[in-house]
Amino acid sequence: MTFQSLSAYTTIILLLIISIYLIRHFWLGLGLKVAKKPDLALASHPPKPSMISKSLASALPDSVIFPRGAASFEQSMNSYWAQQECEVIPACVVRPRTVQELSTAVTLLKREYAESSNNSGDKLAIKGGVVIDLSLFCEVTPSEDGSSVIIGGGAKWMNVSKVLDERGLAVAGGRNSAVGVGGLTLGGGVSFFSPRIGLVCSNIISYEVVLASGSVTTASASENPDLWRALKGGSNNFGIVTRFTARGSPSTRIWSGFLYMPSFQSSKVLADFHESVERASLGDASTKPDNHATGPLACFSYIQALGLKIVSVNLVFATTTITNDPANIAAAHAAYCDAISPLRRVKAQGLVWTLVLQPFLQEWVRLGYANPMGLEDSNDPLVIVSFTVNWDESRNDEFVKATTRHTIEQIEAAAAANGTGHRFRYLNYCAEWQKPFEGYGKENWEFLQEVSRRYDPEGLSQRGCVGGFKLDLVDSEP
Ligand SMILES: *[C@@H]1O[C@H](CO)[C@@H](O)[C@H](O)[C@H]1NC(C)=O
Ligand SMILES: *[C@@H]1O[C@H](CO)[C@@H](O)[C@H](O)[C@H]1NC(C)=O
Ligand SMILES: *[C@@H]1O[C@H](CO)[C@@H](O)[C@H](O)[C@H]1NC(C)=O
Repeated sequence: MTFQSLSAYTTIILLLIISIYLIRHFWLGLGLKVAKKPDLALASHPPKPSMISKSLASALPDSVIFPRGAASFEQSMNSYWAQQECEVIPACVVRPRTVQELSTAVTLLKREYAESSNNSGDKLAIKGGVVIDLSLFCEVTPSEDGSSVIIGGGAKWMNVSKVLDERGLAVAGGRNSAVGVGGLTLGGGVSFFSPRIGLVCSNIISYEVVLASGSVTTASASENPDLWRALKGGSNNFGIVTRFTARGSPSTRIWSGFLYMPSFQSSKVLADFHESVERASLGDASTKPDNHATGPLACFSYIQALGLKIVSVNLVFATTTITNDPANIAAAHAAYCDAISPLRRVKAQGLVWTLVLQPFLQEWVRLGYANPMGLEDSNDPLVIVSFTVNWDESRNDEFVKATTRHTIEQIEAAAAANGTGHRFRYLNYCAEWQKPFEGYGKENWEFLQEVSRRYDPEGLSQRGCVGGFKLDLVDSEP
């Protein structure tokens, strides 16, 4: 199978950045920072090794990298999918080679976290963050009969397909080969196979997790089933996943194609998109498209300059969900168009402004193992609306961010006015101001909070870890 890059939008790697005590100055949120090499000039004035990085280095001498270590440090920092994540300069990077080393690191970090919470009550006051880099957890091991595949928590989908292609196997996986397995899978994950077997998370048989206590545990249908379910969309709120065991199945070739059209065809494209989603959701098996087929994804792009420069990994996402109502789809497209002239006015260099519409059938979410996304009650076909934006210069950050947010809010307001909106927000595309867990419904949100409290009672994942979407626990102060 080929995990071809169908398009450039995808998930931010949530899991990999498990940073403790991140410096206020360097942390820029999950959003919105421009393409710029991480400022490793900073390596000439590196942050002073903090107490915690010293104790990590003495416990794990071969697995801790300081900014002074230059090349490998830079490589580690450049491995994040989204540019903005690369701009966080930690005091050190821990790159464990085994789950035991990771466990040791987490144990030390948790102790430090507990002490600092005791002393200052403000963890952010301590300078010097720590990034845990899982890139050495990259095994891909199919079982003898191909019915399951063990995938390391730090692997990328290209690593997975490379191994599985040779065996004529596939798993429900990401659609862009450069994306990490961990973040995509923990946030749900839409796959080319979703119409047939469901979301990526719904095909995970078991997880190996390092909990905040440092203990290594398994989450599966028979062991810790609550954690097993919570990890299917609950993101990095419970521990660090070191291995996923995914369902495997035979697969041969995948065909995909692109169709480019001039923008005067937009209204036809919108109408056809609506119709194809409608057809896919009808109960009648005779008219339903083959569930081996997926798509179409409709993308609309405004490209400021078709010049020489292409900015690759500098993205901001924001998303909303609407029902497959023609007025909703038209409103989404209109809001996208409305934003173009203000964006053009600021002359944001390198700007590429893209609206993506993709079918999202609630029945897909119910295939495979149960997840807490709260989409079991209805068959209304949904459309995930998302924006991906690239631009060059940091002076435009705020403007682009505000424009994106305003556009999403306009789409939501139009749908709400007609009673055709939907609460679901696909976590992997959410902007930092959005609240994906709210969109899972109250009961599921509370379930996730409860599971997080049970497996991470001190709230290391909630308050000690920067990055990702938190569960907004209010009553678990240590
Ligand atoms: C933090 O304070 C509590 C009580 O105030 C104490 O029981 C605990 O041992 C302290 N933890 C650390 C790591 O100092
Ligand atoms: C995974 O893919 C990355 C990117 O191509 C590559 O650098 C790395 O060596 C691969 N890892 C393995 C274990 O194949
Ligand atoms: C509400 O629905 C009607 C009928 O489908 C449509 O004409 C109208 O434009 C919609 N309004 C909004 C705000 O989407």
